[in-house]
Amino acid sequence: MTFDFDTAIDRASSDSRKWRKYAGKDILPLWIADMDFAASPAIIAALHRRVDQGVFGYGMPLPPLTRAVVDYCATHYQWQIDPAWLVWLPGLVTGLNLAAGAFGEKGDAVLTCTPVYPPFTSAPRNMGREVIKVPLARHGARYEFDWAALARAVTPRTRVFFLCNPHNPVGRVFDRAELEQLAAFCEEHNLILVSDDIHCDLILDDVPHIPVAGLSPAAAARTITLMAPSKTYNIPGLACSFAIIADTKVRATFVRAMAGIVPEMNVLGLAACEAALRESEPWRQALLAHLRGNLDLLAHFTAQHLPGVTLLPCAATYLAWLDVSALRLEQPAEFFEQHGVGLSDGVQYGAAPGQFVRLNFGCTRATLTEALTRMQRALAAR
Ligand SMILES: Cc1ncc(COP(=O)(O)O)c(C=O)c1O
Repeated sequence: MTFDFDTAIDRASSDSRKWRKYAGKDILPLWIADMDFAASPAIIAALHRRVDQGVFGYGMPLPPLTRAVVDYCATHYQWQIDPAWLVWLPGLVTGLNLAAGAFGEKGDAVLTCTPVYPPFTSAPRNMGREVIKVPLARHGARYEFDWAALARAVTPRTRVFFLCNPHNPVGRVFDRAELEQLAAFCEEHNLILVSDDIHCDLILDDVPHIPVAGLSPAAAARTITLMAPSKTYNIPGLACSFAIIADTKVRATFVRAMAGIVPEMNVLGLAACEAALRESEPWRQALLAHLRGNLDLLAHFTAQHLPGVTLLPCAATYLAWLDVSALRLEQPAEFFEQHGVGLSDGVQYGAAPGQFVRLNFGCTRATLTEALTRMQRALAAR
C-alpha cells in the first residue's frame, strides 16, 4: 500500500490552529508541531467504526489497547513493561504539569536543559516550583548535556529532572552512555526523572530510541516516561497520551495529583491510539521516508541558497533547528513571517534573541519548497 504525503489538504478553512494563525494572509505556517498529513487509513477506519456506534459516553482503555502499548514497547524499544504501569492522560503537557507539582512542595525546583519545548519551563512555574535551566553545551553542531554545569546547578530542593528525548528543538537522540549518566545523576541527587518521549517514533537517523526507564531497575524506579501516538501519527487533536510509571509509590503520587483535575479520556483518542500502535507501522515507515526526503531537501537548499542560515543535525522529529545568528537579525522569525513563512522564534525555547528559528518540515514537498524559496528571496532582498 502506498501513502500520500504530497497532495495538499486544505487546512486553512478548517479548525487547524497551525493554519488559522495566518488566516487571510499569504504566510505558510511552519511553526506549531503538527503535520499537514491525514492520519493513517487504519486510524481513519477505526474512528469511523467508533463514530458509527453513535454513543459517546464515558470511556476507558480496554485490555486490547493496553496490550497494544505493551507490545509496542517490546517490539519497538525492547522494553518490557507491565500493563499496571500505564496511566492514561489527555495530553503530555498535562503529564509535565502533574509531574512538576506531584513531588516535593511549593518552592522546590525542577531542573531541565535548554533550549527546550516551552512547557518544560512553564509547567514548574504553573505548579509553584522554581525552574533551574542549564543550557545544553554546543560542541560544533552537536548539543550535549553539560554535566559540570548540571552538578553546579542542582540544589537540595531540586526534586525533578525534565528530559526531552528525542529532543525538541535540537533534534538529538540521546545515546545509551548519555542516558546512563543522566540516570546516575538523578540517582545521586534523588531526582524523579520525567522523560518526555513524545517524538521517539520519529527518529530519522539510523539509531534506536532508548527509553531511560528501560536502562536498569534503578532507573525504572525513579522514572516517569511520557508517550503518545499524537506526534508520530499526527493525531494531537484527539488528546490521547499516557505515562509509564514502574514504581508503585511514584505512580500513586502521580495519580493522586490527577484527582479531580484531569478529565476522562476521549473515546475517539483511545480508538485512534490502538489503530496507530497496532496497524499503522507501514504508514509510519512511509512517513519517515517522506520526512527524510524533506530533511535532505532542507539541508541542500539551506547550504546552497540560504547564506547565513545553518541547519543543525536533526536526528529525529520534523522540527529543524536553524542557527540564524550570522544574519544578525533582531527578530528573525518576524523577518521571515513578513516574507511569507511562519516559523517559531528560538526565544520561545530559551535561546538568545536573534540566534535561532525552528522550522516544521512535516508538510508536503511543495509547501516546503515554496517556503524555502520565499526565505531565499527574503534574504536576497535584504
Ligand atoms: C516535547 C513535546 N512534548 C509534548 C508536546 C505536546 O504534547 P500534548 O499535545 O500531548 O500536550 C509537544 C508538542 O509539540 C512536544 O514537542
